[in-house]
Amino acid sequence: MFSIKKILFGCIFATLFFIGACEDDRTITKLQYMPDMADGPVAKVGRSFLLPPEGSVAYNAIIYPKTIEEAEKFLLSPFNNVENKAVVLKEGAHLFSLFCKHCHGPKAEGNGSIVHKFPRPPNLMEERYKEKADGFFFYRITFGSALMPSLGHAIDAEERWKIIAHLRDLQEKAHES
Ligand code: HEC
Repeated sequence: MFSIKKILFGCIFATLFFIGACEDDRTITKLQYMPDMADGPVAKVGRSFLLPPEGSVAYNAIIYPKTIEEAEKFLLSPFNNVENKAVVLKEGAHLFSLFCKHCHGPKAEGNGSIVHKFPRPPNLMEERYKEKADGFFFYRITFGSALMPSLGHAIDAEERWKIIAHLRDLQEKAHES
């Protein structure tokens, strides 16, 4: 009936099983046994496979204008009359140095470090750019143009407005000097 071999085998199995079960090192990725149920294409919490009703808009969606003229007319920066403008400008300057400076130059005068290898961008301190509304810059950063890369996927809307606040600040200072 109960052979020594079977009992021994049972003990070894049980020991291994308990050692395995007790290990709780959260830094190690666990082995999954047949993970297809866990990783299957199920609807996650708050998500649904149902298509939204026609014409509906996500509560946090940005409705982008179709043309740059419309953008100039209708898009308004949320940072134009804020109290903490200094913080906005500081963040804008930092973002500008990350995303624009290498092409446009430290003061957006079109003399970035790559211009000897890449077509020179225009000087954004020129009068014709000072006259543009904020929405113009927002649209350009989002969608780019013939040579300018579109950066909407990399810089979120709030950050784009901060960069624009910084550009405006540079333009004002360029005006003074
Ligand atoms: C890879 C280089 C590059 C980067 C990065 C870049 N630009 Fe440009 N940008 C250009 C070039 C080149 C042009 C000229 C566009 C053309 O003639 O098609 C330009 C044009 C522009 C214009 C004028 C567009 C017009 O219609 O006259 C604006 C405004 C502008 N860039 C803003 C920005 C801002 C703000 C950033 C950073 C968020 C940025 N660019 C990042 C290369 C770049």
